[in-house]
Amino acid sequence: MALIEWTDDLNLGIPTIDGQHQVLVALINDLHCAMLERRDRAIMSRIFGELVDFTKDHFATEEALFHEHGYPAETAHRDEHRHLAQRVIDLKEDFDAGNTAVTLEVMRFLRDWLTKHILQADHEFAPFLVSRGVT
Ligand SMILES: [Fe+2]
Ligand SMILES: [Fe+2]
Repeated sequence: MALIEWTDDLNLGIPTIDGQHQVLVALINDLHCAMLERRDRAIMSRIFGELVDFTKDHFATEEALFHEHGYPAETAHRDEHRHLAQRVIDLKEDFDAGNTAVTLEVMRFLRDWLTKHILQADHEFAPFLVSRGVT
């Protein structure tokens, strides 16, 4: 069973953003599978790298939409993105330096790291962007 099951409450109703969130879920699930299958560190590092890169791309997509449409809570949301991105960058650097392993605790952290942001902060902007016709 996947670590994160895609459920309807994760949907914002904005296909561009929902699709990117599904990629992030898939990458975290891939890392979880690699942990369960005891894959070697190079494979886990590659998935971690993809997660870092796609996280940056995804946050940039949301921030460009906030800017384009004048989302009132843009600054607070952008600050939360900076904080979240740094957490995953730090985790990957610790892993690459050999200071940490990918454990169930790390995986649970990543699950909550993503889903709490989608369920709270991202759900707050959804009605605004939908009302502006973003799809
Ligand atoms: Fe998001
Ligand atoms: Fe966000």
